[in-house]
Amino acid sequence: MSPHPEVIRPVAICEAEALAPLTWPSYRSLMSLADHGERRLCRPCAVAAWDGDRPAGLALSGVAPGWPLDDGRQALLSLMVARSHRRRGLALRLLTALEDHLPALGVRRLTVDYSDRLPGAAAFAATLRAAGWPEPEPARLRICGAVRDTVAVFRDRDLLMARMRAEGFRLWSWRERGIGCEALAQTLIERGEAPAWAQPRHWRNALDPDLSLVIGDAADEIVGWALCVHQPAAARWFFPVGWVRPPYDRRGWLMGAYAEGAERVAARHGGDAVAVIETASGQPGMWRLFERRFEPHAHWTDRMMASERLLNP
Ligand SMILES: CC(C)(COP(=O)(O)OP(=O)(O)OC[C@H]1O[C@@H](n2cnc3c(N)ncnc32)[C@H](O)[C@@H]1OP(=O)(O)O)[C@@H](O)C(=O)NCCC(=O)NCCS
Repeated sequence: MSPHPEVIRPVAICEAEALAPLTWPSYRSLMSLADHGERRLCRPCAVAAWDGDRPAGLALSGVAPGWPLDDGRQALLSLMVARSHRRRGLALRLLTALEDHLPALGVRRLTVDYSDRLPGAAAFAATLRAAGWPEPEPARLRICGAVRDTVAVFRDRDLLMARMRAEGFRLWSWRERGIGCEALAQTLIERGEAPAWAQPRHWRNALDPDLSLVIGDAADEIVGWALCVHQPAAARWFFPVGWVRPPYDRRGWLMGAYAEGAERVAARHGGDAVAVIETASGQPGMWRLFERRFEPHAHWTDRMMASERLLNP
């Protein structure tokens, strides 16, 4: 008898419903995408393990929103094994099967990005380790709290804002200057003067035009931006991208924009409204500031852990 009763095979669209409990709700529709154009945009790839006609596990990957299609990068979006089938090597077999299918789709690198607050984070990290992945490292720090608490966070807020205003700091809403900001961001990224993750275009359809802010200087030039997206399912306001060009990154201008953003959320939706802001490991100063100033007041914080693996061609 085979040591593995489970059969692993690519997911057919008609199996999507049966496999839905083995991934997060937001990814379920990826398995049933029939439209060729939509599939091309997110290039989903899913393999499932079946124990007879019972779904036993699922590995699902796709191109994350905003990623270019032609750089051969794909995200492992979820890996889940039914409780009854855990610790039998099934996750490792699913990963291998997924990685075997990806090169034919043009994928050369598979990445993971998960919260260290995920209940299964330790098991997942151990599985990646057992599969030979590089050890995941904290890539982004997220902080969630009530917008009214930013008053406590910015103890010297009035002084700070007055100093920045005297230096020329000013803000516009996305509605006022967003189009120009997108064009400038593209130029700066192409010239290597702004990081690719700061690209606002990816968030164009999701951002709130009144709560997303464009940062300007004394000459009315755009020097940065802080985007704000409403996430109704999680009942919160998310600031996924905040970037300001040197030398203003060292002058507290991004913090000034977040302070003003929180104030505008509070004015429209009340002080109890919840906001999530995040910073990346490439911004060590901001990271330390988040830990020191924001973390003590937060409802929760988490670190998004990331790793990447090169696939065999
Ligand atoms: C993470 C998960 C997919 C692992 O599935 P699995 O089939 O049990 O994993 P495997 O049997 O292939 O484990 C392979 C190796 O990984 C390590 N490992 C897996 N789960 C582990 C755990 N809970 N604790 C410690 N090590 C673990 C071990 O080294 C294991 O080898 P061993 O059993 O010989 O010691 C499963 O626990 C799960 O579905 N969790 C919930 C969903 C989730 O959080 N997914 C991750 C984010 S999308």
